[in-house]
Amino acid sequence: MLKKARIAVFVSGGGTNLQALIDAQKSGVIKSGEIALVVSNNADAYALTRAQNAGIKTAVVSKKELGGQDCFEKGLVDELEKNNIDFIILAGFMCILSENFTKRYPKRIINVHPSLIPSFCGKGFYGLHVHEAALEYGVKVTGATVHFVNEIPDGGEIILQKAVEIKEGDTPETLQKRVMEEAEWNLLPRAAELVSAEIVK
Ligand code: GAR
Repeated sequence: MLKKARIAVFVSGGGTNLQALIDAQKSGVIKSGEIALVVSNNADAYALTRAQNAGIKTAVVSKKELGGQDCFEKGLVDELEKNNIDFIILAGFMCILSENFTKRYPKRIINVHPSLIPSFCGKGFYGLHVHEAALEYGVKVTGATVHFVNEIPDGGEIILQKAVEIKEGDTPETLQKRVMEEAEWNLLPRAAELVSAEIVK
């Protein structure tokens, strides 16, 4: 039996969701898993600094440098295997993974998405664009979703969801902040613990 699931967190940018995971590990919300590796496709991601500050090993795997999706995914798999990773968390990872990759890790990859799936999700819906689309449509409630990752972008089984109110005068930026504070930073660590506990069971 595994003692703790070894987690890799994939990031691309600021890494506030990564920070929520690191904090949750410290506070004991995540107790069945440990963050063993942070992988970024972007060498300049501030998320890498957050990982280093927490003493977590980091790796950069760049699609541009490796020259395409197949080599990129091979680079990711190499890092995962080198580090004996059991479970992958996409936390603001802005690359789409092909079926070739996702089928290697059934129910072992989760993602946080900043809307109530199936609204405002799929190809092209990432980061601020999701909140722009929600405001443009005029929905009064949005939220966040944590789901398993399969070959369909944002199409895997839903693990946790939380609704967040849209307020008069919201901009994509104010809405993004509220969705992170009220939903993402709470849901992602909880889902990480649920899946880790299942893995080490
Ligand atoms: C978060 O809002 C996350 O849900 C979103 O990007 C932001 C990353 O912020 N992810 C997606 O849109 C994926 N489709 P962070 O780097 O501060 O965690």
